[in-house]
Parts: sequence; C-alpha cells; structure tokens
Amino acid sequence: MDFSIKSVDAKNTIATTKAGCIVVGIFENKNLSPSAQALDSKGAISAAVKSGDISGKAGSTLLIRQPEGVAALRVLLVGLGKEQASDKDFHTAIQAVANVLASLGAADAVLALPLDAVKERDAAWVLRAAVLTIRDNAYRFDSLKSKKDAAAVGVKKIAFAVPATIAAAARETVAQSVALANGIDLTKDLGNLPGNYCTPTYLANTAKKLAKDFQLGIEVLDRKQLEALKMGSFLSVTNGSEQPPKFIVLKHLGGKQKDAPTVLVGKGITFDSGGISLKPGAGMDEMKYDMCGAASVLGAFRAIAEMKLKLNVIGVIASCENMPNGRATKPGDIVTSMSGQTIEVLNTDAEGRLILCDALTYVERFKPAAVVDIATLTGACVTALGHHNSGLFTRHDKDHDDLASALLAAGKKTGDTAWRMPIEDSYQEQLKSNFADMANIGGPAAGSVTAACFLERFTKKYTWAHLDIAGTAWRSGATKGATGRPVPLLTTFLIDRAQGEAK
Ligand code: BES
Ligand code: MN
Ligand code: ZN
Repeated sequence: MDFSIKSVDAKNTIATTKAGCIVVGIFENKNLSPSAQALDSKGAISAAVKSGDISGKAGSTLLIRQPEGVAALRVLLVGLGKEQASDKDFHTAIQAVANVLASLGAADAVLALPLDAVKERDAAWVLRAAVLTIRDNAYRFDSLKSKKDAAAVGVKKIAFAVPATIAAAARETVAQSVALANGIDLTKDLGNLPGNYCTPTYLANTAKKLAKDFQLGIEVLDRKQLEALKMGSFLSVTNGSEQPPKFIVLKHLGGKQKDAPTVLVGKGITFDSGGISLKPGAGMDEMKYDMCGAASVLGAFRAIAEMKLKLNVIGVIASCENMPNGRATKPGDIVTSMSGQTIEVLNTDAEGRLILCDALTYVERFKPAAVVDIATLTGACVTALGHHNSGLFTRHDKDHDDLASALLAAGKKTGDTAWRMPIEDSYQEQLKSNFADMANIGGPAAGSVTAACFLERFTKKYTWAHLDIAGTAWRSGATKGATGRPVPLLTTFLIDRAQGEAK
C-alpha cells in the first residue's frame, strides 16, 4: 500500500481530479460533506442519498460509476454517522472503505474525507487513524501456509486530498503513520510466528537486521555474559530449555548526547509452557505470544528509527523459553538476582518477573530518564481489565504520576488505551517468603498487582512504569492473531517526549 497527499485548491479541485475512485463522506442526517458537494454539480450524489441507496450511517457505502461532472472513474460514498463523528464511527467508516477498495477493479483512490468531522480530533488524528486502519485491514500472516491467500487485488495507491495550506503537515503526518504501521506489522509478525520459528535467537537476529537497516546500536549478550553479570534469576528460567537465551540491547540515539535515554524493556518468553508448574493443555499454543512485550519494543524501534525521531531511546529484551526438563528450576528453588536480592520460586510459571527483574537491574547503567517495561505478565490482568486496556502500574508520586499521565494520554490518542492500577505496600506483603528475600508469587488475590510489586523492588533507582499487555497483545478465537499493541501507545509516547525535549 502506497500513501500520498494530494493538495487541492481553487485550480486543482476534487471534481477535476483523475483517479480510479474518489471517496467522499455522507452524514446520517443526509447532509453531504464538502467534498461530496463539490462532486455533486449534476446532482448524482444528492439523488443517490435521496433515493435511500445509502443511509449515511457509519460504515454504509455506495459505489457510483462515472457520475457526470466528475473526472474520476468512480465515486465511493461512505457514511460517517453524525456530523461530529465518534472515534468508533470513524473507524467503522474507514474499515468499510478499506474493504470496498480491497476488492475494487481500480489501482488508485483519492480519499477526500472531511478532516474536521471527528469529535475533538484534529486533521492529524484523522489521517493517522485512516492509515492505521487501512494497513490493519490489509495485514495477512500466511508465510507458513503452503497455499497462500489469493494475491491481493484492489487499490494499491491511496492519496489523501487535503487543502493546500496543510499539505506539508499532512505529508509529515502520513509518513509518520506509515512508519508506525510498519512497526505494528513487525510486532504482529513476530507475535504470530510460532515458538519453533520465533526463538530467542530469531528475535536477536531480527534486532540485528533492524540495527543494520536503520543504523542502530546493537549488542546481544549470550549465556556466558549473562552468567558474568550474575543474572541468576533470568538464567533460572532458561534451565529446562534447549534454546540458548539472548539478551538484546538496541540503541536509537537521535537526541542530544547529554540527554538521558528513555528505556523500553520487553519480556521475550518465546514459549511459556509454565515449566515444572506446567500449564494446562487447552489453549497453551497461545503462549507463543508470551514474547509480545519484546516484539512491541522491536516494533516501536522500527517505527521511531524510520521516523528518525530526535530522542535517545534504548531497548532491552530478555528472551528465553520456559520449559520443563530434568534440569529445569523446581518449585521451592531459591535463586539470586543480579541485584543481589534472593527469590524463592514458588511457581515456575511466574517466570516473566524473573527475567524482567534482572533486565531492570541491568538498565540502571544507562542512568535513564524513564524506564517502561512491557510484558504479557499475568492472566490476572486479563481478569481485571479484559481485552480493552493494558494495565499500567507505577509508584504513586509526582514524578511517576507525570509518567503515567504521559503514557495514558499517548494511549488515548491512538485508541491503544491503558488503565492505571495501584502499587501499594499493603500488596507487597503478599510476596513474603520464609526462606528468601521474596517469593515470586503473591497468592491468588490481585495477581497483576503483586506481579507489578515484585518488579517495583528492582526499579528504585529511576522513574519506572510497567505495562501488563496480557489482555491486549493478541486476540483468541476465530480471529486469533497478534494486535500489534502497544506499539501505537509506545511510539506516540516517544514522539511526545521528543517534542517535549525539543521545546
Ligand atoms: N505468560 C503468563 C501470563 C499470561 C497467562 C498471559 C495467560 C496471558 C494469558 C505468565 O507467565 C504466567 O504464567 N503468569 C501466571 C502467574 C501465576 C503463576 C502467579 C498466571 O497469570 O497465571
Ligand atoms: Mn508463565
Ligand atoms: Zn509468561
């Protein structure tokens, strides 16, 4: 899919624009959007609306071939709902457009949508939402099918018609949105790849390729180096696996040399069987998605690198498998983390926190401005928040409230939302162990909170937030597949930070 901007002014009008298809909006009160009016000189569009062939409800569509007075070969009317549409109605409308364009006998289309028709949203939001929705609609994962889905037909080139005055800004927004979509696609691909393909080594090679393609700094630490760093907690998770662990460090240094970096830390369990605390069989295949935190770090890097974002960002990924065998860590084993704190592993299935705690200690060396870890950490987070919001956890002080607000706002802007959860000392007590500094589980109550409380103990030296994406990183059932979340949230958060530092 190729996106561009078409500047329209008094000379270069919608009516004289040559294209396979022009898409214009209709409202449910039967009003025509400005571009629809501009194509209605001979009354074909108002007649179609009057006849009832299109309702104007969000997502309704009607294709008109070669209407009089229009240079384009087709006009696609799309219902936008209310004149100030909701986010949801706009997505529904764009989805409908994407579906029609995907099976149209045209090669190119011009989207002449009203850029001020979504409630409380600006033109940049509308353009980004359109690009992301169309790319999401076009996404396929069929690389492991011997018979590929039929080659995609339909429109391959989409231009957004915008007033000449905002053409430059719109071009920038569309380029950023395409970069974001490329990042999201990478995250989806990695998530969807099964554990026998997407191993820790595969993630490391993907990071290396990214570093080469976009001139990023890269370091991949192997078992020996992790032993030298005394990452006893991380390494305890790898004991039962034949796959070597990888610890990946990616650097995008687009900011000023003296600026402290923003650090992203991703959980990269390429398959979580539970280990000796083996998971039940039903649905266990979905634990190939237990590296979606890591995949979202790589996706966000793909996006900010293509954008050439002016910010120092470091990505750290701890990756291994969690498997049972004769050498695997056993319930009751006590391990020593890189921080020196000892951990009683009461349940080998609570492994995400065991690999993240050492990564969180490792990143102290970067003297970070902020650290955000991203993990498919707990089933309890899915129980608490379902599939709509990622769980956001931070300490509760001014610094952390600011970080939380920035992350929540970035999520809201892109529809990739998070919801803040508590971290309090009263929950910390659930992690008490009789034999070590702490246990790795806190009992059945508030499982996502005690998991965050565990991580919190390793993040005292910097400002930190934790995103539990267990409910948002992938979908189950008939539409099973990775969502690419929270790449939109993370990337927007980083863009906002870069703008803050530029000020
Ligand atoms: N990767 C899982 C969390 C998970 C489970 C995400 C199901 C999405 C769906 C994690 O490693 C895990 O197994 N967590 C345990 C923790 C428990 C043993 C305290 C869980 O959530 O059951
Ligand atoms: Mn687990
Ligand atoms: Zn896990």
